[in-house]
Amino acid sequence: MNIIISDDYQQMSSMAAQVFIQCVTANPRAVLGLATGSTPIGVYQNLITSYQSGEISFESVTSFNLDEYIGLHRDHPQSYYYFMHQQLLNHVNIQGQRVFIPSGTEEDYGAYCQWYEDQIAEAGGIDLQILGIGSDGHIAFNEPGTALGSRTHITELDHQTIDDNARFFDSKADVPRRAITMGVATILEAKEIILLATGQNKAQAVRDAIEGPLSSECTASALQQHPNVTFYLDSAAAELLKHEYKH
Ligand code: PGA
Repeated sequence: MNIIISDDYQQMSSMAAQVFIQCVTANPRAVLGLATGSTPIGVYQNLITSYQSGEISFESVTSFNLDEYIGLHRDHPQSYYYFMHQQLLNHVNIQGQRVFIPSGTEEDYGAYCQWYEDQIAEAGGIDLQILGIGSDGHIAFNEPGTALGSRTHITELDHQTIDDNARFFDSKADVPRRAITMGVATILEAKEIILLATGQNKAQAVRDAIEGPLSSECTASALQQHPNVTFYLDSAAAELLKHEYKH
């Protein structure tokens, strides 16, 4: 695992955006794995700026999002479909038919989860996956206790995640209790993974992920098994790490 500790959020976001730019420059038909949450917003802003200046084109890119709340229609302002279009997709030249975001309003999730996996496989797999990390150590919505061999599935959200995400809703009671999420094993099949974390409230999860035992209690720890993963951290998120990493 590579660990890169940045001075601040702007530096971290711009370094992580460069990884996307290099990926798409090397392969204009790249398959990108995208994430929601507050953390990647700076990366997406950098990518929009790079698109506007002609440095990057998304014309032949395919994207897959990690997860979605069950029960939220795509027009709901807190749906991840809405978020991704607001934060990135509406501002670049990606083609709508190559944008995949799990649906929160399906009837038959057994079939739908398999369909989502099949779409990733048909696209040739994910070349570059961006991740945040939950304060409970989750990646996507793979909450503590999720099998590290899991594939795309429906999950109950952990109380910690409901608390953390309540800030986006009128009240905690409005936070959906279930989500569809790529599984840990689905994520680990990406060829390259970058995980971003800022702030002291992520420090324990970051430590468990990087230096803790491989455990379903911190699903991000499964990244220790991946051959090409880089953590981009600010110093607050890195403050509980025991070992020295480069700044
Ligand atoms: P955040 O969420 O970026 O809003 O902190 C991260 C996550 O839950 O994966």
